[in-house]
Amino acid sequence: MTSNLLKTYCKELKLGGVPSVYEQIDFQDRQQYLTAVLGAELEMRRQNRIKKLLRKAAFTNLKTLEDFEFTTVTLPETTNIAALTDLLFLEKRENVIMLGAVGTGKTHLATALGVKACMQGKQVRFFRAADLVNTLLEKHKGGTLARYMRELNQCELLILDEVGFVPFHRDGSDLLFNVIADCYERSSVIVTSNLEFGQWTSVFGDSRLTAALVDRLVHHAHILAFTGESYRLRKALSGSKEQSK
Ligand SMILES: Nc1ncnc2c1ncn2[C@@H]1O[C@H](COP(=O)(O)OP(=O)(O)OP(=O)(O)O)[C@@H](O)[C@H]1O
Ligand SMILES: [Mg+2]
Repeated sequence: MTSNLLKTYCKELKLGGVPSVYEQIDFQDRQQYLTAVLGAELEMRRQNRIKKLLRKAAFTNLKTLEDFEFTTVTLPETTNIAALTDLLFLEKRENVIMLGAVGTGKTHLATALGVKACMQGKQVRFFRAADLVNTLLEKHKGGTLARYMRELNQCELLILDEVGFVPFHRDGSDLLFNVIADCYERSSVIVTSNLEFGQWTSVFGDSRLTAALVDRLVHHAHILAFTGESYRLRKALSGSKEQSK
């Protein structure tokens, strides 16, 4: 078989990875060789799928759990580090709420959990809350909100970062409420905020809507408290990577 014919066959069979790996795989016997070639094709597809999921999730920065120190986080009794990082909350469609001061690692941990979910083949979307609200308002204006909501509803993990940095307009709050209500008991949400729940009315502008939203979010949720000094500040002050507690 000529290499061109092989390429044509692979293209027709949609075995896009085979032409680039088949020459590098050791040959012992036919079965071992074919199995290894097909294994390489499968692995390449898996990697491509993960890349696509990571792109679609639209993280602002890629962060990993390996780089995260849990010293700043107080976990509730409902979970522990192993359960959280094994993403058991996703299986159970529970939420994770991360509350705490600036620079204490909320976005890092939320992103790292989202990245791991993508690695496991899950559909994830990452938004700064204010950006999602703006997008929802735009789609609403443009008459394409229903389609956008259907798209959002496909995701298994919605990450809403920085709830509380910017107050929302009333219409924006209503639209965000609908997104969260749609996720309720159907998919997981991770929310990060600098504000205690008691201050969320100042963000959403309406106490009844805020109460209904918080109620849905916390019903099946793990609430993590991030304490301590800002990691950014500590790093800037010490000028060193190694931080003491
Ligand atoms: N516990 C941690 N382990 C490792 N890196 C951390 C930790 N906490 C923070 N960092 C790092 O410090 C920087 C700031 O963290 P991050 O952006 O996650 O904070 P934040 O709580 O989201 O802050 P903000 O409330 O201002 O959004 C990032 O570069 C992050 O990787
Ligand atoms: Mg943040």
